[in-house]
Amino acid sequence: MWLTKLWVVPFALFLYKCDCKSRTNITLPSDLLIGTASSAYQIEGAWNSDGKGESIWDRMTHNMSFKIMDGSNGDVACDSYHKIKEDVDIIHRLGVQFYRFSVSWTRILPTGFPSKINKAGIRYYNKLINSLLKRGVMPIATIYHWDLPQSLQDLGGWANPLIQDWFENYAKVLFENFGDRIKVWITVNEPRQMCSYSYSTGVYAPGIISEGVGVYLCYHNVLRAHARVYHLYNTTYKPLQKGKIGINIETSWFEPATSSAADKSAAERMWQFECGISAHPIFSEKGDYPKLVKYVVAKRSKEEGFPRSRLPRFTPEEISYIKGTSDFFGLNHYATLKVRPKKSLKGVSELNDIGVDVVKEYENRNKTWSFYFRSVPWGFTKLLINIKYRYQNPDVYIFETGVPDEGTLDDKHRINYFKANLAAVVSSIREDGVKVRAFTVWSLMDSFEWRSGYKYHFGLYSLNFSTPERIRTPKASAHFVRSVTKNRRFQLIQ
Ligand SMILES: *[C@@H]1O[C@H](CO)[C@@H](O)[C@H](O)[C@H]1NC(C)=O
Ligand SMILES: *[C@@H]1O[C@H](CO)[C@@H](O)[C@H](O)[C@H]1NC(C)=O
Ligand SMILES: *[C@@H]1O[C@H](CO)[C@@H](O)[C@H](O)[C@H]1NC(C)=O
Ligand SMILES: *[C@@H]1O[C@H](CO)[C@@H](O)[C@H](O)[C@H]1NC(C)=O
Ligand SMILES: *[C@@H]1O[C@H](CO)[C@@H](O)[C@H](O)[C@H]1NC(C)=O
Repeated sequence: MWLTKLWVVPFALFLYKCDCKSRTNITLPSDLLIGTASSAYQIEGAWNSDGKGESIWDRMTHNMSFKIMDGSNGDVACDSYHKIKEDVDIIHRLGVQFYRFSVSWTRILPTGFPSKINKAGIRYYNKLINSLLKRGVMPIATIYHWDLPQSLQDLGGWANPLIQDWFENYAKVLFENFGDRIKVWITVNEPRQMCSYSYSTGVYAPGIISEGVGVYLCYHNVLRAHARVYHLYNTTYKPLQKGKIGINIETSWFEPATSSAADKSAAERMWQFECGISAHPIFSEKGDYPKLVKYVVAKRSKEEGFPRSRLPRFTPEEISYIKGTSDFFGLNHYATLKVRPKKSLKGVSELNDIGVDVVKEYENRNKTWSFYFRSVPWGFTKLLINIKYRYQNPDVYIFETGVPDEGTLDDKHRINYFKANLAAVVSSIREDGVKVRAFTVWSLMDSFEWRSGYKYHFGLYSLNFSTPERIRTPKASAHFVRSVTKNRRFQLIQ
């Protein structure tokens, strides 16, 4: 999850609310998997224990704590490194079918390179995976969820094309050690959010501000590195281990503010720059970046006096090498936003390339929350239908959806959000033939929420971060998820 859109905080959260009382019982399709998720840096803590190396998030939270809203860090977080039993217990209690976690690169390879494998790191994930399997929960592993080794960042990180080798070497260690039990792998979590906020605005680690330049180098190398790891798995490991592997893309749905042609083209531009830039090269029939993205960045680069487009070009060999490299469309979805053209496009930046403003029409309805976090079921459905038609009807694994709170056990708004989104997903499966196979609640428990620190909570379980025990206490939404996994149906009141 990325909370960067909290530049819009604090505005209004539209709580799912209705005066009419039509009740519908929604039954889940029997093959729709329900799960929950987390990521390593957000929960593990033990940032330098048992041989773990320094990651870019360790470095940034320590050296640039002003970049984190409450100045906090993930040094201890949920202390999950020491609490496998507690975590697996609460996962089991939810009755979910799978748990998506991520592997910390520097816990496995402290220097970033496979010349030194940290046995304690291997033991930790082995124990987690085995405990999940013992409880009948399928483990799903994200290979990269933003915590790059600092040693590799010092060499340029995702802006250096050699990251393709480094990432492949790291992934190989994971396939060798865990591939006998992991049947679903996610290569990279949210390329757009990761590149944009790490290399453009610099609000994510490593905090580099390279507007309109570094961000595109990052996308380019993420896509190439992802494809390398896909092919490694597809060729060498899949025949034996029989799993699936793919990428995970976050996108909102973008609705034109009005029916004007300008607003409609703004919505299309936003879509192509947020979703298309990583989805088109992998899932479209032709491959490569979307035409619109290539055209816009090339044109603006030329006007700005760059000798070539700031968006690097794939060779024909790379286009076909990257095309088709995902066994499913991993999707993170949080919001539907209304958009219109941006007024001033002066200055070199990705946001000016996109040239879109979000209409904050829900501002101030309730001061507590960002307008960003509202459930808009029709937006979710439109998004899923677009994925179906634009990207050759892939299997869709929804790997994140969720909403924050600021500290409550009575999170009715979260239950309503999940009900509305789950209903939208079920209808897109039944009415529109979208092949959604998995629905993931973000997140298992309150955790370090990147630049928001511990201010915003996404968990089904609440933690008290000022106590060393980090007791996990269920919120109302945890009971709701339990009832959905048990009954495979829920009542939608609308
Ligand atoms: C605003 O928040 C209050 C307190 O949580 C809640 O009772 C109310 O329904 C909210 N209003 C809207 C319009 O969401
Ligand atoms: C919906 O489910 C509830 C129990 O959760 C049941 O009492 C009710 O009769 C059901 N309604 C319909 C229309 O099936
Ligand atoms: C950043 O962190 C590193 C390693 O922890 C330290 O050696 C260095 O002095 C710090 N730099 C700044 C500018 O604080
Ligand atoms: C994955 O491997 C299978 C079996 O060898 C092959 O048919 C398929 O084309 C490969 N996928 C890609 C994207 O190369
Ligand atoms: C967290 O624990 C501290 C120390 O025991 C306590 O003072 C505080 O009230 C707790 N916070 C919550 C929200 O329970």
